Amino acid sequence: MAYAAFRSIGAYVPSKILSNEDLARMVDTTDEWITKRTGIKERRIASSDEFTSDMGAKAAQIAIERSGIDKSQIDMIVCATISPDYFCMPSTAAIISTKLGLSNATAFDISAACTGFVYVLSIAKAFIESGMKKNVLIIGAEKLSAITDYNDRGTCILFGDGAGAAIISATQDKSEAIIDVHTGADGEFADLLMSPNGGSGSAHDTLDQEAGNCFMQMKGNETFKVAVKTLTKDVVDILKENSIEASQIKHFVPHQANLRIIKAVGDALKLEDEQVVLTVEKYGNTSGASIPMAINDIYESGRLKSGELMLLDAFGGGLTWGSALVPFAPKVV
Ligand code: UT7
Repeated sequence: MAYAAFRSIGAYVPSKILSNEDLARMVDTTDEWITKRTGIKERRIASSDEFTSDMGAKAAQIAIERSGIDKSQIDMIVCATISPDYFCMPSTAAIISTKLGLSNATAFDISAACTGFVYVLSIAKAFIESGMKKNVLIIGAEKLSAITDYNDRGTCILFGDGAGAAIISATQDKSEAIIDVHTGADGEFADLLMSPNGGSGSAHDTLDQEAGNCFMQMKGNETFKVAVKTLTKDVVDILKENSIEASQIKHFVPHQANLRIIKAVGDALKLEDEQVVLTVEKYGNTSGASIPMAINDIYESGRLKSGELMLLDAFGGGLTWGSALVPFAPKVV
């Protein structure tokens, strides 16, 4: 049987920084409020001619170079995004495949908001274990600044742009295998976090073709409460089902939405500070890109080593949630 191994990671962030002080000049907020309630100090903003596919391709290029495989061996590309280059078609994954010089790989996007990277990980694992694909490029890429209302202080302080990518490859070595991936969704809570306009669900008389009709809206406080409850239950379940103790987790890599949410889940698992990966302070919430960007952060700082176990945990619009137990398994050369 083939197993799925998490071979490599890469990420890209735009150079422009939007600080809390910048936001305080745009809406009625303060650095103190944002820092205390979210842990965010700054986020990155893509330029007007830099698209989600550009950031995704740059992150993917790094992941490919670090994977030790030739890009011609990639047989599938899956991109998690809620801010695609084009809302209907073509998919951002298809555009990325061309930017990478790949023309024969299966390519498609998935929409699972901030849980997107855990969803694409589960898809890669399933395709590899079934024998249908051998090397899958998974990407989380977001230009959230394109769908953020910079007049709404409840949301604009949270979101930023960026991308992360990973190569998942077939292996016969069970010790390298992604152990488990959980994914779930409940549309009952759809109205907590949504872009209500711009799709076929919008009434035609309210359809606004101007930029901004896809802005995100969030009932932040209600989302916060559901997030803590759902994330905690999901990680407790996945650890229990796989007979793994929280102390065996080397890196807890949560979706970077809010420092208070991350701390609440970390405390529920009785994790030590050094187990918890935090990038929320410098990048804010980058939705589907946040987990691979955080994995890249510990990789580039030398903290992530071969064989170490990661616990991924995410929650987002849909509502969706997911978690995964993933050993880091770079190719032995
Ligand atoms: O990534 C997907 C999942 N997303 C999340 O998990 C995000 C979850 N939610 C959150 O992170 C938090 O709910 C927020 C950071 C969005 C808001 O924090 P909160 O502690 O839940 O604040 P709140 O919404 O309960 O608002 C408290 C007060 C309100 O004022 P009043 O009614 O008490 O006078 C808000 O109007 O804070 C006010 N407020 C602000 N004040 C200064 C809301 N936004 C701001 C702001 N600056 N930016």
